[in-house]
Amino acid sequence: MSQRIYIFDTTLRDGEQVPGCQLTTEEKVVVAKELERLGVDIIEAGFPISSPGDFRSVTEISKAVSESTICALSRAKEGDIDAAAQALKYAKRGRIHTGIGSSDIHIRSKFNSTRESILEQAVAATKYARNLIDDVEFYAEDAGRADLEFLARLVESVIAAGATVVNIPDTTGYCLPDQYGAKIKYIYDHVPNIDKATISIHCHNDLGLATANALAGIQYGARQVEVTINGIGERAGNTSLEEVVMALQVHKDLGYYTNVDSRRLYPVSQLVSQMMRMPVQANKAIVGRNAFAHSSGIHQDGFLKSAETYEIMNPHDVGVPTSSIVLTARSGRHALKHRLEMLGYRYDKPTLDTLYKRFLDMADVRKEVNDKDLMELVR
Ligand code: KIV
Ligand code: ZN
Repeated sequence: MSQRIYIFDTTLRDGEQVPGCQLTTEEKVVVAKELERLGVDIIEAGFPISSPGDFRSVTEISKAVSESTICALSRAKEGDIDAAAQALKYAKRGRIHTGIGSSDIHIRSKFNSTRESILEQAVAATKYARNLIDDVEFYAEDAGRADLEFLARLVESVIAAGATVVNIPDTTGYCLPDQYGAKIKYIYDHVPNIDKATISIHCHNDLGLATANALAGIQYGARQVEVTINGIGERAGNTSLEEVVMALQVHKDLGYYTNVDSRRLYPVSQLVSQMMRMPVQANKAIVGRNAFAHSSGIHQDGFLKSAETYEIMNPHDVGVPTSSIVLTARSGRHALKHRLEMLGYRYDKPTLDTLYKRFLDMADVRKEVNDKDLMELVR
């Protein structure tokens, strides 16, 4: 039987931390409503203690969204946790996401502390949060570089203290997929009370491995994945929502499914890109301008015979209106004929051959030949 993977979207928290991507509360509410419509299970709406604007955003999103759980971030400090709980006052389903650094690098350099004292703080914060709300997620920051034995003890302790979800972030995007998968497996094998909580994965993309790592984490037992639209986030970004959802959908045989309506992926990607003034790179998987564009003659010929020769998913399934054939100097006769026919022109072979020669001359100069250029050619 297929297993449900819960989608935790942090576009409005980890994503919005990106310089230049800040949104107003009103814009965040619009995005949150779209995420709800998309079928996201948990929306991380902000970090309430960090600013009055973030506090207000979490409050307003909590009022506006009723299907998805609304999550608020905090450090392992009572003041942060109080602010998160207050901001979530109107949430139908609220969650506090609290946590602390778990790698020795963070423990020593960031907190000037010891493993034992971090463990105590983690347990105290989890218990404190559980007294305020039923759903508490604990994050072990920089778990990607943390000592495995210590990480397992930390996970066991926060679950015993009441954490319902434990997040194992690869904060610095350091891990390779097999290392990250092995880390999740180790936790499942060495934490006796692991059945009392959901394990969540949160990967950054510093080595371009965020999606691969997230999929490895899922295959080793994690059931919640933390993602952002278009993969935006700190530095090189976070795991991209659309990539994980479509990887699981295309590879159904792996036995996982999500609640996401994949046909909303492209519209939501466009909305977030426009609102955050952050263009989507042309070759971005799933939602980039070129994700369903075919430009070389060999590919175009195959695609026109049968789309599945060069497409592993249907553009409609991700909300992209159509695949496209880009006419360049590398396009063949078949593509030119197809495009001319779409414009209503049919030619016999000799005429098409002549047109094709002229088309190549034009394509060498103009690089990409659009419909207007073709009309000029026809005339
Ligand atoms: O990357 C990270 O560790 C985080 C935590 C705050 C969950 O974003
Ligand atoms: Zn993060």
